[in-house]
Amino acid sequence: MPTVTLHLLFAGFGHVGRRFAALLVESRDALAALNIEPVIVGIVTRRHGGVFDVAGLDANKVAQGLAEGDALGPASVPSTLEWIARLRSQGAEARVLVETTPLDVRSGEPAIGHVRAAIAAGMHVITANKGPVAFAHRTLAAEAAAAGVSFLFEGAVMDGIPVFNLVRETLPAVRIDGFRGVVNSTTNEILTAMEKGERFDDALARMQEAGVAEADPSLDVDGWDAAAKAAALANVLLDAGTTPLAVAREGIAPTLEPRAQAALRAGRRLKLVAHGRRSASGVTTCVELQELQADDPLAIVDGQANALELDTWPTGRIVITQRDGGLEKTAYALLSDLVTVAIRIRHGAPGL
Ligand SMILES: NC(=O)c1ccc[n+]([C@@H]2O[C@H](COP(=O)([O-])OP(=O)(O)OC[C@H]3O[C@@H](n4cnc5c(N)ncnc54)[C@H](OP(=O)(O)O)[C@@H]3O)[C@@H](O)[C@H]2O)c1
Repeated sequence: MPTVTLHLLFAGFGHVGRRFAALLVESRDALAALNIEPVIVGIVTRRHGGVFDVAGLDANKVAQGLAEGDALGPASVPSTLEWIARLRSQGAEARVLVETTPLDVRSGEPAIGHVRAAIAAGMHVITANKGPVAFAHRTLAAEAAAAGVSFLFEGAVMDGIPVFNLVRETLPAVRIDGFRGVVNSTTNEILTAMEKGERFDDALARMQEAGVAEADPSLDVDGWDAAAKAAALANVLLDAGTTPLAVAREGIAPTLEPRAQAALRAGRRLKLVAHGRRSASGVTTCVELQELQADDPLAIVDGQANALELDTWPTGRIVITQRDGGLEKTAYALLSDLVTVAIRIRHGAPGL
């Protein structure tokens, strides 16, 4: 089996990017067994500079330097778009953009621009960023197919638990009519904590400390993250062609503490549920607070756990549960996408 060498350009090197770089080292033997050789050739950030070496970088050293307060390079380094062009001009084969910049939930940028430029330059894309799939899945997937490259985003919803690849790889010819899920770890942890009497602000601070909450926590608590995931799921599973702005949206607030506790006493759980459904008039998507019966599969997920129920034909209702969320699972989603890219290249079908 010939070795597939993948040249990786990181756009963003924060919590997720660094954890993925570390996982590449931790998974070296597993990747070698699959004859996959990842080489990190560039890392670009917004405020911490960037670094580029087509011969390969030691990403752990770079991460250690960042943790010690060093910049990666001078502040005025080329942008992601310029690094994409530079990598193309150096003729590196099998180039992959690893997109992990923060999400601007009103536009999906800067990730959409990065992904579009990478595809146009013949690069594969793997991303944990919800922006591209939540705002522009249909067009980006078409552009990737035309360019013969992969556009994969497993980490955008439920971290490393298979959702998109589960449907893509294992449910051929299945029709999906709808979905509903508890898909935001931060709000689920806060709702669970409030049931037990912990203050909203304390629970949110814990999530920020753990790097689980979005850099801007209002993205989580106001329901934007769940809305972006609902749009991503609707776009991929229901071909909705929607955006997070079109998702009817509710969030959580400190004032919900009595309601969460009263629901629990009554044998129910207060959950922030994202759902989408296909009907004769189109696809509807929504994020709303629901008091679920205790035996509902979405009610039993505590803390950072997530669950998603797919309503399918002819396979009925399928529930996927993620018991433990966290950064390494998101990093694993990127790893599984990277392996998919390599396998497709090996089989001569890079843009499936
Ligand atoms: N954290 C999680 O558990 C998790 C889980 C699933 C998905 N995600 C998604 O993964 C993405 C990354 O999350 P994170 O927690 O790693 O964020 P983060 O810690 O804030 O890191 C973001 C990185 O992106 C860089 N960046 C910002 N704007 C950029 C630009 N225009 N060009 C190049 N680099 C830029 C930042 O550089 P500076 O630091 O220099 O500004 C930083 O290195 C987000 O889209 C998030 O929604 C996160």
